[in-house]
Amino acid sequence: MTEPAIERVLFTGQQVDERIAEVAREISARYAGRELKLIGVLKGSVFFLAALARELTVPVKIDFLAISSFASQRGAPGMVRIAKDLDDSIEGEDVILVEDIVDTGFTTRYLLQHLAAREPNSLAICTLLDRTPRRIVQVPIDYRCFEIPDRFVVGFGLDYRQLYRNLKYIAVLNLEAPANSNR
Ligand code: IMP
Ligand code: MG
Repeated sequence: MTEPAIERVLFTGQQVDERIAEVAREISARYAGRELKLIGVLKGSVFFLAALARELTVPVKIDFLAISSFASQRGAPGMVRIAKDLDDSIEGEDVILVEDIVDTGFTTRYLLQHLAAREPNSLAICTLLDRTPRRIVQVPIDYRCFEIPDRFVVGFGLDYRQLYRNLKYIAVLNLEAPANSNR
């Protein structure tokens, strides 16, 4: 069942599902009696947001935004801009920004500022993966499913050149190996 270029499975589908259910229980308890708006970042957080939302016991609305990132060059921070904004206002709402991975932190910090400007009642961050060794700007992460080492990963929404998003598990990708070497 191993995909070509998959070096090793970091978290199995079952481990991911169980951990998401655990985090969802924590969020449901924290927001009990309130209505929650989950905001996903296209496309990476789609699978995580869907899995998380199904485990929540509080009423949930969802919305999405899309960003374009430009890779950092010679140590300069990566640039982020909004390619698709939210459909609806978040003013006065209890909002959780749902991320696939917080890496350097630039994307998340940009999105936090963007969302905070719309005056939600509260704003929290929930990320599937947290790769702290590469953090450059600090962002307050309220809920995280897993911390990961400094390796490129795919699956559960995370891609390499738009592929692998649909994997049920999270795996380290061997970027050196030719993509079809196992076939
Ligand atoms: P940051 O701005 O450096 O925190 O970058 C976060 C974004 O980079 C994520 O939302 C992902 O789209 C992408 N990214 C960072 N690390 C990985 C990875 O290991 N696999 C796939 N995408 C990644
Ligand atoms: Mg990506």
